[in-house]
Amino acid sequence: MDYGTIARTTEGPIGIITLNRPEALNALNTQMVKELISALTSFEADDSVRCVVIAGSERAFSAGADIKEMAEMTAVQMAMTGHFFPLWDKVGRFPKPIVGALSGFVLGGGLELAMSCDVLVASETTQLGQPEIDIGVMPGGGGTQRLTRTVGKYKAMEMILTGRRIGAEEAKTLGLVSRVVPKEAFLSEAKKVASEIASKSPVAVRQAKMAVNKALEMGLADGLDFERELFYLLFASEDKTEGMKAFMEKRKPEFSGR
Ligand code: CAA
Repeated sequence: MDYGTIARTTEGPIGIITLNRPEALNALNTQMVKELISALTSFEADDSVRCVVIAGSERAFSAGADIKEMAEMTAVQMAMTGHFFPLWDKVGRFPKPIVGALSGFVLGGGLELAMSCDVLVASETTQLGQPEIDIGVMPGGGGTQRLTRTVGKYKAMEMILTGRRIGAEEAKTLGLVSRVVPKEAFLSEAKKVASEIASKSPVAVRQAKMAVNKALEMGLADGLDFERELFYLLFASEDKTEGMKAFMEKRKPEFSGR
């Protein structure tokens, strides 16, 4: 597929998607959503890709859903075309880990896209917010749910009801990003984290990601049971045998993903 709004590349075991609509601060329009889904689908099918990075530019990860496109849409069109939501479902359920490389504006649907990733590396210039209230709507891509589960009710209410943006350091304190780095380093650091994850057992990484995500959906007792089942299952993997053998032989493991 030829991409017009994103770039899709690979660097060894890392699949990289770069949002590329600089004229609109990477606002997510229908074409970009379709292209993101297509790129993610191709990375999912490619066994050589073990981790994905989604990045924007230094100025903007994404300023949210494309307001100019949405302005003319009716409720029925939004509901019937499933305009954005296939993307959130695809990212949220993507089996391989996704590192978000954030810088500049991370707003509205852009923050919702970021919150569907698994590890978030943010440049010190990052500004995060849910400003939908300023244009007479509300978050629709998971913002009310994921933000509240991450930062708690009171901060989520403040951000969603006032539309106010927060900076990278505050986001880190709130647990909304994993780490903050100088602005020159946000992409290289995200790739570094992705390489580190890609060097682990893909089977263990997949199960661990699934278990952590379930913590946001299940009660503690069910979550602990779920975790244990996944843990037992890993004892059937070749990677478990290799990982433990390599430890005892004092060498680096070579994980096959089986
Ligand atoms: N949709 C469409 N175009 C956008 C956009 C968006 N979300 N955000 C920015 N742009 C466009 C601007 O219209 C402008 O284009 P023109 O030069 O053609 O006018 C260009 O990007 C640059 O933007 P600004 O001139 O506004 O840049 P700035 O530095 O002065 O301000 C900003 C940057 C604060 C991010 C401002 O652009 C802004 O507030 N954008 C809208 C943010 C927003 O409301 N996002 C939520 C969208 S709704 C949503 O996401 C729903 C959902 O949950 C699924």
